[in-house]
Amino acid sequence: MNHREEIIGACRLILGDCRKVLSTLFGIKAILTDPPYGIGIASNPVRQKHERKDWDASAPSESTFDLMRRVSDQQIIWGGNYFPLPPSQCFLVWDKVQPEDFSLAMCEQAWASFQSPAKLYRRRVVGYAKTHPTQKPVELMEWCLRFFAAGTVCDPFMGSGTTASHA
Ligand SMILES: C[S@@+](CC[C@H](N)C(=O)[O-])C[C@H]1O[C@@H](n2cnc3c(N)ncnc32)[C@H](O)[C@@H]1O
Repeated sequence: MNHREEIIGACRLILGDCRKVLSTLFGIKAILTDPPYGIGIASNPVRQKHERKDWDASAPSESTFDLMRRVSDQQIIWGGNYFPLPPSQCFLVWDKVQPEDFSLAMCEQAWASFQSPAKLYRRRVVGYAKTHPTQKPVELMEWCLRFFAAGTVCDPFMGSGTTASHA
């Protein structure tokens, strides 16, 4: 297996391709993640300041979503409207409270695996330092965590590591 890992506080950080690493992990209760949406960030004029743009060229395959659902009991997957996932009663929506003429998405959606009415997080999160072009706010990921039963949470597409910031 070609990956490196390190324990930092309550987190186990694994640097590797999650499509290979995920099937080697045991005891994952839930997955909270934000995979590449495959919407071509390279062609978005607002995102040009970021050096690397290739990572968003395609979304993960259906088998990667199947794998995530196999190795965990519960999942919240941001960008769920782009991915081959089964119908679900529960969507989580982040309303960014932006004006109608906002040049990027005014809200984002996450697919959730569990039975629950849809949930809304309405918060304009501004001024957080970004090291990743699609970095999620820590508060948003903390809000998501409350929907899970206690146990180990895994983020296979962690980017800058927002999900781990909570631990
Ligand atoms: C939408 S971003 C996640 C951003 C993250 N939520 C944050 O707050 O920083 C998706 C991330 O998944 C990474 N990625 C893409 N394919 C991957 C793979 N096979 N294994 C692990 N990470 C991958 C990309 O490089 C990118 O950093």
